[in-house]
Amino acid sequence: MSTPLPRRQFVSTLAVGGLALAAAPALLRAEPIPAKVKVALIGCGGRGTGAIAQFLAACKVLGVEGEVVALADAFEDRAQRLNETYKLPANRVFVGYDAYQKVMATDCAFVLLATPPAFRPVHFAAAVAAGKHCFVEKPVAVDPVGARAIIATGEVARAKGLAVVAGTQRRHDASYLRNKALIDAGVIGALRGGVVQWNGTVPWVRRRAKGEADADYMNRNWLNFTELSGDHIVEQHIHNVDVAIWFLGRPPVSALGFGGRARRETGNMFDFFSVDYDFGDGVRIHSQCRQITGTAGRVGEFFTGAEGSCYGAGKVFAKKKYETPVIKLDTDDSMVQEHVDLIRGAFNGKPLNDARQIAESNLAVILGRISAYTGDLVKFDDLLKHEKSPYYNLTAAVGPLDFEKGTVKLPAEVPPIPGKA
Ligand SMILES: NC(=O)c1ccc[n+]([C@@H]2O[C@H](COP(=O)([O-])OP(=O)(O)OC[C@H]3O[C@@H](n4cnc5c(N)ncnc54)[C@H](O)[C@@H]3O)[C@@H](O)[C@H]2O)c1
Repeated sequence: MSTPLPRRQFVSTLAVGGLALAAAPALLRAEPIPAKVKVALIGCGGRGTGAIAQFLAACKVLGVEGEVVALADAFEDRAQRLNETYKLPANRVFVGYDAYQKVMATDCAFVLLATPPAFRPVHFAAAVAAGKHCFVEKPVAVDPVGARAIIATGEVARAKGLAVVAGTQRRHDASYLRNKALIDAGVIGALRGGVVQWNGTVPWVRRRAKGEADADYMNRNWLNFTELSGDHIVEQHIHNVDVAIWFLGRPPVSALGFGGRARRETGNMFDFFSVDYDFGDGVRIHSQCRQITGTAGRVGEFFTGAEGSCYGAGKVFAKKKYETPVIKLDTDDSMVQEHVDLIRGAFNGKPLNDARQIAESNLAVILGRISAYTGDLVKFDDLLKHEKSPYYNLTAAVGPLDFEKGTVKLPAEVPPIPGKA
């Protein structure tokens, strides 16, 4: 059988917070948001550039000043390119795989984590250890060990009273919140099933430059390597599977998936997946995702209830009459609203803590990937609870600490082959 990800030893630094699981949540008082809110960014690429601007926009919405106090990236050119906007002094721009540690020593109250997902568990643990409120871009892990580390760190954050918001912006979007409220009010009856999709193009490919080191090539082309992205079912389709889990109020019980690679030219990922998620109680969600340029695109969610159906956001088909709830948010931009909710919660005594929720959605998409890569029917608890499961301690053959230690060895650029030989 092809392995779902080459295995290696459990990385002990990921196992943070075990003791803190029993800790009581911090007793918090509401206090005014300070006039100046200090923020730092780790990962100065496309999303990081957007996230920091959206954080500053959120500060404006809240009537306070946002100040960028540090930028960090593995690559100098990326950090410098973003610093053309913020013009920080050289001692506030950190470069390299240990740059995140230097950010933690600054006076930022908030840190935005926007590197490729494989680094998130280590960076999140360091941020929470340093007492920072965190925005964690999705996905937060590429393997079960990483996802469970996020849950453990989330509990440390809870004990310290830190706010943690994940980059699943649909949960901060009025049209999704409206349909969720309608479902909760029983407008389409009990949910029975649905389909979630992210069918689109290959976002980008970065080919190897002549003489480029394994680590540099792999990281600059991270969107095509499972070890760094989790594959696109994890990296991109998590948004739609997360909506299903949110609307149903529980993660899936098991997944049976398949997929393959038809056109992808670099890396080791599949370019299409089809997964049957069993949520128990006779509820099934079909997940479909494809990254093949030139094929029909469709991105979204559709749910069927006992008395109607609806999109994740958009039209509701209900037999009974209903009143549309008014969802009042601070802004129409969900990617600004998520930062408003992060900042407000950090000071009003009720910090949001999305760690478990995003880790469970992340585990669900990792579950689909493992099923498709191996051909096995895999249970959610094989990744979360069953320590004897062959998948429980699965970690990527190339992990975040290999980048820090300089021990990256490029994996073969071939996809897994499902089934038993
Ligand atoms: N919420 C959303 O809708 C959304 C949209 C796009 C991307 N994302 C997520 O945002 C994250 C970043 O994606 P992107 O599109 O910005 O990718 P990107 O390649 O544009 O940016 C990633 C940046 O991180 C840097 N980096 C890599 N490893 C690092 C490390 N160890 N330490 C510091 N910096 C490091 C890279 O050099 C790069 O500048 C991913 O998790 C992606 O899934 C979310």
